[in-house]
This record gives sequence, structure tokens and C-alpha cells, in this order.
Amino acid sequence: MKRLDGKTALITGAARGIGLAFAEAYVREGARVAIADIDLARARASAQELGNGVIAVEMDVTQQASIDRAVAEAVAELGQIDILINNAAIFTAAPLVEIERDDYQRAFDINVSGTLFTMQAVARHMIDRGIKGRIINMASQAGRRGESLVAVYCATKAAVISLTQSAGLNLIEHGINVNAISPGVVDGEHWDGVDAFFAKYEGKAPGQKKKEVGEAVPFGRMGTAADLTGMAVFLASDDAEYIVSQCYNVDGGQWMS
Ligand SMILES: NC(=O)c1ccc[n+]([C@@H]2O[C@H](COP(=O)([O-])OP(=O)(O)OC[C@H]3O[C@@H](n4cnc5c(N)ncnc54)[C@H](O)[C@@H]3O)[C@@H](O)[C@H]2O)c1
Repeated sequence: MKRLDGKTALITGAARGIGLAFAEAYVREGARVAIADIDLARARASAQELGNGVIAVEMDVTQQASIDRAVAEAVAELGQIDILINNAAIFTAAPLVEIERDDYQRAFDINVSGTLFTMQAVARHMIDRGIKGRIINMASQAGRRGESLVAVYCATKAAVISLTQSAGLNLIEHGINVNAISPGVVDGEHWDGVDAFFAKYEGKAPGQKKKEVGEAVPFGRMGTAADLTGMAVFLASDDAEYIVSQCYNVDGGQWMS
């Protein structure tokens, strides 16, 4: 018996990176998965690689009509949604005096509004069908404290932690558990962009920032997407039934709370 046998999941931003690793892990544990991403071509390629039981749906979490369409498509293809992972996000960084309003707005639209209104759409579906569902939001160590050049991204992730707490308290009366995962530094395309940013602002050679942050992790290296899958499976499993509104650090010892 696998831990997610018979379950269905919608994972946003799962065409690549951490979301894709979650999709792989869920399939291994017996779930069927909808990979929902703004990059439909890559979502399709990833779904095809994972094989049977995985579909790709186009979803822009900043657009209500797109959220509603994607949720309806996933329900039509998979039957229902038992698990939602709000994983889609963008990173942005700038010195405080250079932050641009458009950039701020885009980050909040994707990372915060996207998380809230996808949660809302899927929670409505779960409540309508009486599904004792699971919602997992992707926070970050960046949401635990500020960072000098990363004010906007940090604020979006602090908002995700706060939304998780309130949504968890509100939805548990319907048997829907809402929790969050807070990674530290996870190597992949996301961090390629972060590394390039610090190369520009701190005059570092490409790859230097990654090396430094990896060495600073108490565990001794950057995380990988695979390091996070155990927590994502656990929070979706029956073993996590009594866990409500929590945010778990999976970060090699970076943050304690
Ligand atoms: N990589 C890290 O070090 C790290 C650390 C802490 C938290 N996180 C969080 O983990 C999650 C996954 O990170 P990742 O490293 O895999 O990121 P990533 O940049 O590799 O992947 C993000 C995915 O989101 C999709 N996306 C972007 N905008 C979208 C939109 N409007 N609608 C739908 N999809 C959209 C992208 O196409 C992409 O597939 C994010 O929430 C991120 O903030 C990552």
C-alpha cells in the first residue's frame, strides 16, 4: 500500500524544479497529478515524462479565469482534487531604493494573490464535494526574516506563512488541512537566477554565491528538490491529519522556529 494511493493532486508551477519533484514523488506514492503551469509546453513535456496518471493544465495563477479553468480541467480529468500544492512563485530582488512598483506588483500577484485565490478555488471544490483535502503552500526561509536586497520576495513569503495560518484555522472545520513548507536554499533554475542577481550586485563570479550559501548551510550543502519531497508526501498523507496551520522548515538547519 502506497501512502497516496487513489489520491489526486493539483500542483501549481510544477513544470520544473521543486514542483516537478513533488509531482514525481506523488506519482511514486500512488497519486494521479495535474501539473499546472503558465509554461504549458514544459508542463506537457514533464507530464509525458512522468507517464500514466499525470496531466498538464495551463494555469496563470494571476488570472482568476485561468485558475477557475485549470481547476475545472483537473477535476474533469482526475475526477476530483484531494491535494493542492501552491508552489508557483517568482523570485525578485533589488536594493530598496531601486524597487519598482511593477516588479513589486507582479511578485505579490503570483506569490500571494496566486496562492490565496488558488486555495480559495480548490477549497470551494473540496467543500462542495465533502473532500477532506490537503493544501500545502510553499513558503521560504525568506519569509522568516528580511534580507537586505530581497525585501519584496521576503514579504511575499511572510504573507504566504500568514495566509497558511488563517486559512488552516478557517478550513479545518471542513476537514481540510492547510500547512506550509519552508525551504532554505534549493539548487535549480530558480537559484541560477538568484546567483546571477548576486553576481551583478555583489560583483561575484557566476556560481560563487551558490558556493557560499551552500557552505553556510549547517547540513553542509544547498538543498535539492528531492530533499523536500518527504515532507510534501507526509503532509498529504493520513499521518498528518492532526496538523493544522503549521509551516515546516526543510532547510538543512538554516532556521529554527
Ligand atoms: N529554489 C529555492 O531555493 C527555494 C527556496 C525557498 C522557497 N522556494 C519556493 O519553492 C517553490 C518552487 O521553487 P522552484 O525553485 O522550483 O522555482 P522555479 O522558478 O524553478 O519554478 C517555478 C515554476 O512556477 C511557474 N510559474 C511562474 N509564474 C507562474 C504563474 N503566474 N502561474 C503559474 N505558474 C507560474 C514557472 O513556469 C515554473 O515552472 C516556489 O514557491 C519558491 O518560492 C524555493
